[in-house]
Amino acid sequence: MVWEKDVSAVDAFNLVIFGGTGDLAARKLMPALYHRYRAGQLPAQARIVALGRKAMSKQEYLESFADRSRKYITDAYFDAAEWQAFTGLIDYLQLDAGRAADFDALAAYLKDVHDRVSIFYLSTSPVLFAGICEELARSKLVGANSRVVLEKPLGRDLASADQINACVESVFTESQIYRIDHYLGKEAVQNLMALRFGNSIFEPLWRRGKIRDVQITLAEEIGVETRGEFYDATGALRDMVQNHLMQLLCIVAMEPPINMDADNVRDEKLKVIRSLEPFTAETVVTHAVRGQYSGGEIDGTRVAAYTEEAGIDSASHTETFVALKANINNWRWAGVPFYLRTGKRMHSHVSEVVISFYSLPHAIYPAVEDCESVNRLYIRLQPNESIELQLMAKQAGDRNVLKPVKLDLDLTPSNERHLDAYERLLMDVVRGNQTLFVRRDELNAAWKWVEPIINAWEASPEPPERYVAGSSGPDRANELIHGHSRRFEDC
Ligand code: BG6
Repeated sequence: MVWEKDVSAVDAFNLVIFGGTGDLAARKLMPALYHRYRAGQLPAQARIVALGRKAMSKQEYLESFADRSRKYITDAYFDAAEWQAFTGLIDYLQLDAGRAADFDALAAYLKDVHDRVSIFYLSTSPVLFAGICEELARSKLVGANSRVVLEKPLGRDLASADQINACVESVFTESQIYRIDHYLGKEAVQNLMALRFGNSIFEPLWRRGKIRDVQITLAEEIGVETRGEFYDATGALRDMVQNHLMQLLCIVAMEPPINMDADNVRDEKLKVIRSLEPFTAETVVTHAVRGQYSGGEIDGTRVAAYTEEAGIDSASHTETFVALKANINNWRWAGVPFYLRTGKRMHSHVSEVVISFYSLPHAIYPAVEDCESVNRLYIRLQPNESIELQLMAKQAGDRNVLKPVKLDLDLTPSNERHLDAYERLLMDVVRGNQTLFVRRDELNAAWKWVEPIINAWEASPEPPERYVAGSSGPDRANELIHGHSRRFEDC
């Protein structure tokens, strides 16, 4: 096991986590901070303050919390003494977002709040964001060194997102606001950008006429787990498409920015979202499929139907699967379909972008059985992060038969760990780098694009198509893609 050799030091900071007893803090934030601590990146004076409604001592918090976070740190990276030392940076305070006195107590506790970077991480329901920001301002916790991190989903539609953003922006400036989409922090996404913008050979191929189609799939085996109530009010379109899938689409389709400065990158992503062909009542029917899982089997285990899960309305029409065919109306991409797909309780846990190039205009080698002779670029985010280029190469022997081979373009040594997305993004907030965070105009444009789909589905009396848990989604999703020898990659 090797920690990265080259870590950039950061100055001491305060990180205040609203929702400090929540699932995200246990699963992602604390393990990410622990890994940065082990890599030598967290200064000894850094302070992490977890906030929760329950009255507990720091010790009680750490005891209940350590157990939960521990299982999200792989054994190879866990060291009890290091964990103990890391938890020395953590404190716990009771805070009810509706109680002004609790904010005053927080202000009294954070005496150095204006002397160092102080980050307020809002990992709560977005309905609380506006109230928390107002209280932070009232209790004089916000100043030039403050930053606020907003977790997704930000709102339910354009109007509610705008309302939340307006409240947050009455307290923080846009340069202090970090809207997180953890998919942007994944190593393979950074690698995709490096591949596109750090090499010359891909640029002439990265366009219509060369690329036949792009598929982006975020398939999960898990169901709604303990988040039934939240998920039933949200659905896959808001939970995965409006943010993660659209951000990945932007990274694939954006023009090269003039440099990696946050606004230059975000300007280019925004142009992509604005170039997406708007959905109409007709194209929602022809270019969008929603599904909901029924009971089935995954890895030999029986799993319940969505409507039988805890917290789900038994007559729910909430979608757990979405497939879309998107067109980008600009010079680079006109006529190249982007197929987006996401679902819970799918056959396997696969998140990937697959870029298929056109096949040869004329084949001089005999066709290889069961294999389409197509060059493809695979950018895989789950279960492992990798980038592979599929080429056709001659099979050894005296016959001229070709077989597909995959060239590994991710040269990270196998004993070196990939940073988790939250590690990278948390450190970006500390450093004040907004490149991988979503700007308000991007977010608005994304809501605007998905809204006709939301509206059409909410108005429809038809239930989503059923698919069996453990399958690749509803059959109609495959119909979206059929033609021109295209098919969805297995998932
Ligand atoms: C979250 C969604 O944003 O992303 C979850 O709310 C989903 O429903 C998760 O499971 C997937 O993230 P990852 O990194 O595990 O692919």
